[in-house]
Amino acid sequence: MPAPLRVAVLVSGRGSNLQALIAAQRSGALPIDIVVVASNKPAAEGLRHAQDAGIATVALDATGRRDRAAYDAELFARIAAFTPDLIVLAGFMRVLDAAVLGPWAGRIINIHPSLLPKYPGLHTHQRALDAGDALHGASVHFVTAELDGGPVLACSEIAIETGDDADALAARLLPREHVLLCRCVQWIAEGRVAWQDDRLHFDGAPLTDVLRV
Ligand code: GAR
Repeated sequence: MPAPLRVAVLVSGRGSNLQALIAAQRSGALPIDIVVVASNKPAAEGLRHAQDAGIATVALDATGRRDRAAYDAELFARIAAFTPDLIVLAGFMRVLDAAVLGPWAGRIINIHPSLLPKYPGLHTHQRALDAGDALHGASVHFVTAELDGGPVLACSEIAIETGDDADALAARLLPREHVLLCRCVQWIAEGRVAWQDDRLHFDGAPLTDVLRV
């Protein structure tokens, strides 16, 4: 058996996607080792979930840190000390400096609550409703310096129903996010995903369409 994939998870808040990863790992479904959970918010609930699970944490308060590049460099140095193979942004609500991302190209993913390339940034549920979309969803993509702009590995779609508001949509999407993120991390842990020549490959072949979970 290959060694489990060493995963660092970055959170800014609730940490339900982190909890899904922890649960999947514990159940034996996910061949990973979550080596550290880091946050820009010392009070993030996600840090407590990590501590409860006996996972190392890094809390580096970004409040009042004007030099964004220096903050990101410090955060990523702290994370790199745990020698992760993969960094997962799971509700990490900061844009990262391009300089820290460079060494991690192809080894850092993000879950975003929209069907990318639709609605990068914030308020994705309301924007899907305002646009009159029939479908909404979440995407997992590799992170580049462009906000929510790197290549998308997979998405999970839900129908928008009459009477939905942003909260209802978010609540219905969240359990789908958990499945999507766990599946993507599993594929990466199993060595099925590669980012080569500017293109994602899955099972050795270029990915022609976003995978659906
Ligand atoms: C999730 O909905 C995730 O997709 C979103 O934040 C939430 C975090 O929930 N991420 C973004 O908006 C990133 N742009 P969680 O803390 O319960 O996992």
